[in-house]
Parts: sequence; C-alpha cells; structure tokens
Amino acid sequence: MGKEQRPMQVGELVVLYKEGSRPLFVELASGKKLIDGFGVVDLTPAVGAPEGARVVAGGEEYLVLRPALVDLTRTARRPTQIVTPKDAQYLLFLAGVTAGARVVEAGTGSGLLTLFLANAVGPGGQVVTYDRKSAHQDAAQALLRRSGLADRVLFRQGDVSEGIEEREVDSVIFDLPEPWTATAHAWGALRAGGFLATYIPTYNQLEHSVREMRTVGFSDVHALELIERPIQVGEGGTRPSFEMLGHTGFLAAGRKVGVRT
Ligand SMILES: C[S@@+](CC[C@H](N)C(=O)[O-])C[C@H]1O[C@@H](n2cnc3c(N)ncnc32)[C@H](O)[C@@H]1O
Repeated sequence: MGKEQRPMQVGELVVLYKEGSRPLFVELASGKKLIDGFGVVDLTPAVGAPEGARVVAGGEEYLVLRPALVDLTRTARRPTQIVTPKDAQYLLFLAGVTAGARVVEAGTGSGLLTLFLANAVGPGGQVVTYDRKSAHQDAAQALLRRSGLADRVLFRQGDVSEGIEEREVDSVIFDLPEPWTATAHAWGALRAGGFLATYIPTYNQLEHSVREMRTVGFSDVHALELIERPIQVGEGGTRPSFEMLGHTGFLAAGRKVGVRT
C-alpha cells in the first residue's frame, strides 16, 4: 500500500503529465483555465480527487499528479551550476542526513540540493541554507515553494567564511568554490558525531578542501567521484549511450569525532 492518497485541493500546485511531454505546473482550480502555450483546460475533475485524475486539453488526456522530485528538478530555474541528482543523493548519504535531522547548507544556489535535503529531513527536520547572494536564493525559494517543502527551510543571506550561527546540527553540506574558508565554521556548527560533506568541481579545490578538513580535525576524511552512464534500452540493441556527462563534481566527507586540539 502506498502513502495516503489525500484528495487534491484547490490552490495546490499540481502537474499535468503525459508520456513524452514536459510536466506542466498549474495551480489547481475549478473550472476552465487558459494556460500559455497549452490552451484551455478544465481542471474540475481533479478537484477533490486522488492523484491520477484525468483531464482533457487540446483533445489529449493528461494525468493530474502532485509534483515529484524528478518533475521539480527537470523544470527548476538554474541561475547557478547545480548538484546533479546522482551526486545530491550520495551527498545526503555521506552527510548522514536522516528524517528529523537539522542540516546547514551553503551555498543555496539554484536550490536543487536544498530540495533534496528538505525532502530527506521530512516534516520534523530543518534545513538552514546560506548564500551570500540574495538573487540566487530567489530562484531557490520559488523552487521550494513549488515543492510544498518551504516550511522546512530557513534561508539565510550570509557568507559562511565569516561564520555559521547554528550549533549542534547533525550535518553540514557545502557546494562552494572555496569550502576550505568555512571548514572550521562547519566544525563549530556540528554536534559530536556529525558529518561535513562537500561538493567540489576540480582536483585543485579537492586537495585544498581535504587538507583543510584534516587540519581542522575531521576524521575519516575521504573523497570520491560518481560516474553515471546512461543506457539506451532497445530490444536486442541495449547499450551505453554514446553521450555521457564526463564530469560533474567530486564528493568529500568527514566526521566530527574527536575534540579539536
Ligand atoms: C554552485 S552554487 C550552489 C548550487 C546548489 N548546490 C544547487 O544545487 O542549486 C554555489 C553558490 O554558493 C554561493 N557562495 C559562494 N561562496 C559563498 C560563501 N562563502 N558563503 C555563502 N554562499 C557562497 C554562490 O553565491 C552560489 O550561489
């Protein structure tokens, strides 16, 4: 049995879904609605119905669904580089993020990693996300509102190289060009046993980050790269795709175990 199928409500954000089409986000309302580039659609059959209600637009049938992470990440506005889903999920693992956790993140950027974090900490958890540029946080805030998870996220405009206000948090995650400038502040924010995980674009930055993590006193510091190879599946001709993203970023992590000397 899946999770409870709450009826969809007027004012809720939903996606109109059809195989092969981009998911289209609309606010659920009764009656006919004109949607730019799409036409007129009557959403009334979806109001008060469980996910999967059917509506017709332009002679074609669409399913009305609540947005999933995959819909939100594909359609998010991206004013900055983002953490790709494969890296985001593994960063959560490296940072020990669980339901109910309190997590500090920097920088917010487009908010893709914030979205994964907010989803993972659940209704009892909290994500505090810092960015020194408020313009970047605008896109991230819009994404979190669309996802319905904004109440789990506290947006802070600030430079984490100057400090992190929170204390006794479970995890800190950085996606910054110079994470080493804030590594000591991550230590100060973490509880004993908490994790720091960092996403890093180049080898030079990776060396610098890991050196600083060891200097600050983190234990079990290690780094890795994840390679994702898409597979084209066709009857009798299944093979890796000729196109592949060669590099996204490196992942480094460590744990606050001992006392800093
Ligand atoms: C690559 S983006 C983060 C992307 C984000 N993880 C995502 O998935 O959408 C890096 C962000 O870090 C912010 N930033 C850089 N240095 C910072 C610092 N010292 N303190 C706070 N934010 C910082 C930048 O403004 C930028 O928005």
